[in-house]
Amino acid sequence: MAGVAFDQVCKRYGKVSVIEGLNLEIKDHEFMVLVGPSGCGKSTALRMVAGLEEISDGTIVIGDRVVNELPPKDRDIAMVFQSYALYPHMTIRENLEFGLRIRKTPPAEMKRLVDDAAEMLGIDQLLDRKPKQLSGGQRQRVAVGRAIVRQPSVFLFDEPLSNLDAKLRVQMRAEISKLQHRLQTTCIYVTHDQVEAMTMGHRIAVMKDGKLQQCGTPLEVYEKPANLFVASFIGTPPMNFVRATLAEGGTRLAAATFSLPVPEAWRAAAAGKDGRGVIVGVRPENVVGPGGAPRGPVAGIPVTVEAVEPLGHEVIVHGKAGEDLVVAKLDPHRAPHLGETLDLVVELNTLHLFDSTTELRLGA
Ligand SMILES: Nc1ncnc2c1ncn2[C@@H]1O[C@H](COP(=O)(O)OP(=O)(O)OP(=O)(O)O)[C@@H](O)[C@H]1O
Ligand SMILES: [Mg+2]
Repeated sequence: MAGVAFDQVCKRYGKVSVIEGLNLEIKDHEFMVLVGPSGCGKSTALRMVAGLEEISDGTIVIGDRVVNELPPKDRDIAMVFQSYALYPHMTIRENLEFGLRIRKTPPAEMKRLVDDAAEMLGIDQLLDRKPKQLSGGQRQRVAVGRAIVRQPSVFLFDEPLSNLDAKLRVQMRAEISKLQHRLQTTCIYVTHDQVEAMTMGHRIAVMKDGKLQQCGTPLEVYEKPANLFVASFIGTPPMNFVRATLAEGGTRLAAATFSLPVPEAWRAAAAGKDGRGVIVGVRPENVVGPGGAPRGPVAGIPVTVEAVEPLGHEVIVHGKAGEDLVVAKLDPHRAPHLGETLDLVVELNTLHLFDSTTELRLGA
């Protein structure tokens, strides 16, 4: 077992910088998810750990070794890719054995490792088949099995579930989490799917444009997003943003068509800052009404209902406050009607405030 550390890691292709000064420590036994939009550098970061890409600057440490110059085979890692990359002409057992044969593992040991992994993944009945006789989900299990039998110090996953249908993805997500819990192997898992990140990671590292935006537990990132990007990336439907200005001695947030009291936690920071531009963030799930049971102080945002999307257990309501759109998740039994004007009730303590220029989270 081993931790992994990125220290000031940069990656450039010619003049183009794709990873900038990445500092990130993945602890021994930890499940770390790298998440961010397409092209933000997740795969590049992972491939540098694997040794499949050179590092332009900085160091990567696995366990207690700097691995910058170490070839992939000596890094004690195993990687699972989005494409299962199984050998089509070999049986499943032969696919699982392949890496072990190269390392000249004794046959009895090899059989034990393969049988154990196959049982763990529920593919023990499939060992004599060829990959094309397997479903996508089963193939992905074999790809995971191939990583397990090698008993590496670190698992690297690059979007391993993206080729599976939605239902299977949810199932495999839980299986990979369980597996990691059982094996306790350090994992770095790359995905662009924030739900996967939130549900699987002990901690998640949110990236954008080659830069780390925030690293923390799923709850930390959800409750205290470091900037506007993280706030908009984590959560579905995404957080609502309304431009406002501090007013009345820093006690009110004045938006275009309404105003809200400044939440208690921000009062000290906002005092006397009238005129300062802020962006108020409201999560759809923190809109508690009309008619809900709020915890703590609330305020109303007057809107006209533009769309109502019933989902069974909840209803997504799109309200327009002047030019500002406020989306709310509401109780389906209290759903408003299209065109209705009403006050969307928000819990003040759940509001988020960002600086309108730097886009960084303000204070609390
Ligand atoms: N060989 C290369 N030469 C030049 N630029 C590259 C090369 N490989 C990747 N890039 C660029 O590096 C950036 C990061 O790519 P990377 O594959 O790491 O993104 P990603 O976050 O994994 O995206 P995705 O979610 O689409 O897989 C992209 O802008 C990509 O165009
Ligand atoms: Mg990628």
